Amino acid sequence: MQNLIDQTLAQKLNEATHHQKVDVIFNYIERRGQTFYDEAVTQLEHALQCAALAVQNNASNTLITSALLHDIGHFVLDEHNAEMSFLDTDLNHEEIGAKYLQPFFPEAVITPIRLHVPAKRYLCTGDASYYDGLSEASKRSLKLQGGIMSDNEYNEFERIPHYQDALTLRRWDDQAKVKGLETDELGTYKEIVQQCLK
Ligand SMILES: [Fe+2]
Repeated sequence: MQNLIDQTLAQKLNEATHHQKVDVIFNYIERRGQTFYDEAVTQLEHALQCAALAVQNNASNTLITSALLHDIGHFVLDEHNAEMSFLDTDLNHEEIGAKYLQPFFPEAVITPIRLHVPAKRYLCTGDASYYDGLSEASKRSLKLQGGIMSDNEYNEFERIPHYQDALTLRRWDDQAKVKGLETDELGTYKEIVQQCLK
């Protein structure tokens, strides 16, 4: 498992100055984001659509940054090169992504990233119409991700700081899969992400 995680981004981030860090992240996701997220969009398109939804909804800079980087775990896991479908195999990309970025961003950025999968479980538990609106792939992966929550898990979830941002991010995540949608390019977010760095 550990050897599936690409450490090159971490090394480059550690070596980079404060002002170089965003370029390091952006170069990485630009390069690694050309693989397909699902049948409709690439990983990079998905990230950009998610960030665009955050901007359209007047989100804070921290939540825009979470939206843009929420699937960084998929990028560093390089699940396509490992020749397995990440929609069928759960490698906990949300935990891996959060841990990866934790040294560089505050909790307000990290928690929504870490919780964006449990947020789906939470929303499916409390809202049947939310479940019905999920894509087939997302319904399929719910089982792998733990299915609906117990009462205890549901209540615990609501005690986590920033959990509401995670729910908001999750709804954008579900929408950010539109084939051929025009979005702002990655560089548009440079200042926003830069401001969120620790
Ligand atoms: Fe996503």
